[in-house]
Amino acid sequence: MFHDIPTPVLDRMRELEQRDQEDRADGTPRSERLRQIPPETGRFVALWLAAAPDGACIEIGTSAGYSALWLAIACAATGRTLLTFEILPHKASLARETFAKAGVGEVVRLVEGDFLDHAGGIGDVGFCFLDAEKEIYGACYDEVVPRLVPGGILVADNAINHRETLRPMLDAALADERVDALIVPIGKGELVCRKR
Ligand SMILES: C[S@@+](CC[C@H](N)C(=O)[O-])C[C@H]1O[C@@H](n2cnc3c(N)ncnc32)[C@H](O)[C@@H]1O
Repeated sequence: MFHDIPTPVLDRMRELEQRDQEDRADGTPRSERLRQIPPETGRFVALWLAAAPDGACIEIGTSAGYSALWLAIACAATGRTLLTFEILPHKASLARETFAKAGVGEVVRLVEGDFLDHAGGIGDVGFCFLDAEKEIYGACYDEVVPRLVPGGILVADNAINHRETLRPMLDAALADERVDALIVPIGKGELVCRKR
């Protein structure tokens, strides 16, 4: 799936990577910055999605849709669709532009709003990528883990660069007997949980 990424997807990825780098360098306010995962994390989450069991594939925290493009590649390769949640209207608008330009509208559905208001309707989950505000990680974890099918995967970003802020949630996940969990030192640090 990484060997034949469509050109419109690659082109939009390059645009967003450049804008994300500029954001970090030029003092763009936090609410405006894209705050994307690096490409290696994109490949990492795409591999996990492709290997996940049947069930909804969801992302919490779309921003402009960069990580969703990586997940869309895995969805296209495995015949699934991605449901991605973004709370900020201006980010949702950028994400819509991303999905249209990249031509992934068939495999990505964007929900504009607070994930926590929609969690009740997501059904059984095969894969979840959590990359939202750190303050809601615990609440998202509590909503997603009971919905994971056996073998279902939850990956949460920022497990190393925000380790102190996330410590209560990370410690709870690592001790949670419903899942097997590990923190992987790739990108900003990925918590990977597999439902038992
Ligand atoms: C770190 S950025 C996501 C970056 C994106 N995953 C990527 O790599 O391209 C976090 C995003 O989560 C969104 N967000 C925060 N809280 C949310 C919530 N409760 N529901 C949905 N989105 C949320 C923010 O508005 C922000 O755009």
